[in-house]
Amino acid sequence: MRKPFIAGNWKMFKTVAEARHLVSELVPGLQAVNGVEKVLCPPFTTLLAVSALLEGTNIGLGAQNMHWESSGAFTGEIAPAMVAELCHYVILGHSERRTYFGETDATVNKKVRAAITHNLIPIVCVGETLNEYEAGRTEEVVYRQVKLGFAEIGPIDGDTVVVAYEPVWAIGTGKAATGSGANSVIADVIRPAIKELFGEQVALAMRVLYGGSVKAENAKEFFSQPDIDGALVGGASLKPGEFIPITQAAAK
Ligand code: PGA
Repeated sequence: MRKPFIAGNWKMFKTVAEARHLVSELVPGLQAVNGVEKVLCPPFTTLLAVSALLEGTNIGLGAQNMHWESSGAFTGEIAPAMVAELCHYVILGHSERRTYFGETDATVNKKVRAAITHNLIPIVCVGETLNEYEAGRTEEVVYRQVKLGFAEIGPIDGDTVVVAYEPVWAIGTGKAATGSGANSVIADVIRPAIKELFGEQVALAMRVLYGGSVKAENAKEFFSQPDIDGALVGGASLKPGEFIPITQAAAK
């Protein structure tokens, strides 16, 4: 059985002081939810403070990006070991990274390989843009992103990697996909691609999340789908009154 997984992607929001405040509001409600893997992904500058606040809780910590090289002259970048010192998870290949910062399937793949080497659980984001969706290219695009993102990776356990299906047209727009629409992309494209790469066991064990305008109000619609194992939550993860109920909805 796949354990439900909920991650909050704080994006470029919250100073250290603001992050401390938000975490103090989130922890009691999140801690009380059992049977769900819960992860906060705040900005790099807040990771040290947030990791101290999460110590001894059942809530995990993740970064939103990292470089693939172990160290070197890469001004402004963060190395895998720096992330691994504080976090167990890292979001990779988010569509905002692909769109605004030139990330490609090839660079995402290097990052995924670096994360696995450093025992970080990557949350690998895939999803089609509005143009691709309207042109009927969803399957082709998502299949390519999974196959190339996970290329040249040796045998892995299904619970050491997480995929997030995030249609780009649904992110931050308030226009979520439908539960059944997202479920079919996961069941018909993502799991089969994972099966081709790593075999059936891994394809059945790997958690695949939905992301894109998830709110307390629509969370159940996604979590009641057989192939959706949780959510990557953006805007609503900054609101305790939304994020805690979303996490509760994921508990089976
Ligand atoms: P959203 O973002 O929930 O604000 O749509 C999701 C994401 O970008 O991961």
